[in-house]
Amino acid sequence: MRQFTDQNGNTVRLVLKGEEPFSNDPKHVWVICKYRYQWLLTTHQKRGLEFPGGKVEYGETPLEAAHREVLEETGALIHSITWLGQYEVAAEEERIHKNIYFAVISTLQEKDCYYETNGPVCLDALPDTIREDSRFSFVMKDDVLTYCLDYLRKEQLLK
Ligand code: GTP
Repeated sequence: MRQFTDQNGNTVRLVLKGEEPFSNDPKHVWVICKYRYQWLLTTHQKRGLEFPGGKVEYGETPLEAAHREVLEETGALIHSITWLGQYEVAAEEERIHKNIYFAVISTLQEKDCYYETNGPVCLDALPDTIREDSRFSFVMKDDVLTYCLDYLRKEQLLK
């Protein structure tokens, strides 16, 4: 288990694959997406560039939510998806649990509506200066992303 403080001063705890998740019923999902040789992100209208994700809806499993959020926010269909881990944010009012997935995208289809985002953005690389880069959402500026990318590299999942 890894623990750190995020940019909002909230305590974040993270477990990766092979470790016990904090919750069996997480209400949030976040999906690190690869499309061909690029990263696939979305531009959230308030937060900026981030990997797609959001809240699990009533009657939905977290995995179903992951597929739905990726489609809604980017127009992408998932070819394969792996559970990478889960993190907990102890925010002022509540404690949230977010499942992290790694998805390989098969198709990107253009849509009229991308919900609260401006739709897909493909990047060759994630900049090293992401934490100082105001284009990126705060959810991309945690150690969560760093740990996940290290894990993906170590497991050779980034082909
Ligand atoms: P909406 O209800 O969608 O408007 O979002 P919200 O920000 O009001 O609520 P949400 O339940 O998504 O998150 C509650 C708080 O948890 C946020 O204000 C953040 O402080 C924190 N939080 C949510 N997601 C993340 C995340 O991915 N990383 C970090 N570090 N904090 C998060």
